[in-house]
Amino acid sequence: MSFRLLSSLSAKLRSVVYRAATVALIDMKKAQVVFVLGGPGSGKGTQCVRIVENYGYTHLSAGDLLRAERSREGSEFGQLIDNHIKDGKIVPFEITIKLLKKAMEETRRLDEKKIHFLIDGFPRNEENLQGWTTIMDGEADVKFVLFFDCSNEVCINRCVERGKSSGRTDDNRASLEKRIQTYLQSTRPVISLYEKQGKVRTVDASCAVDKVFANVKTILDKEI
Ligand code: ADP
Ligand code: C5P
Ligand code: MG
Repeated sequence: MSFRLLSSLSAKLRSVVYRAATVALIDMKKAQVVFVLGGPGSGKGTQCVRIVENYGYTHLSAGDLLRAERSREGSEFGQLIDNHIKDGKIVPFEITIKLLKKAMEETRRLDEKKIHFLIDGFPRNEENLQGWTTIMDGEADVKFVLFFDCSNEVCINRCVERGKSSGRTDDNRASLEKRIQTYLQSTRPVISLYEKQGKVRTVDASCAVDKVFANVKTILDKEI
């Protein structure tokens, strides 16, 4: 809208236009987030890599950030994170959200145009979700949840197979039993909450990687 046109409006109308423009500017700056959820081994990380290659997203895996924090020299949370991961338990949300927030801010500091994020393995439980809503609401919009759906058996088999080379302390049958329980008891209810809001996009994750990605593309092409 040109300055001349704007100055011809009444003061009240002008203030409405200014407010709308300000809100639009703030919204433009908000991060646009897709949460990526599914059982352990459902293929979240694998598909996120493909999405990054084909779409302009930044991939942040909550699990990867926690593992990096566990290994960081001088971390006060190393032992706590280690114990939680081995036991398939969810790390207190304050720790995970702080890591996610820092990674998002760092990404945007390096390139302010990077506002599209895939947040993989989060929110894992209602505390994760509540913490996110409290801490991140003004800074990020959750567009939808990409849900990789497959049976527990497929999840376990893939993780056991991954465990032959991953070096992960939780890719073994004992940890996996616990991870599946945590997934069913804590993460599925979060997915159900988003489902009620019409925000879940479900992908059959049991087929081959290429087929899963073809379905992911169909979903993303509709959303963008
Ligand atoms: P998540 O991040 O959900 O735990 P990953 O992407 O790490 O899962 O995948 C778990 C394991 O299963 C990896 O070894 C990966 O190579 C393999 N994998 C991923 N997607 C598929 C698929 N669609 N079919 C067969 N194996 C897969
Ligand atoms: O997603 P990923 O399989 O890498 O997560 C590994 C582990 O990290 C989980 O089983 C859990 O112990 C921890 N985690 C967590 N909170 C999250 C994501 C992961 O506590 N939001
Ligand atoms: Mg992963």
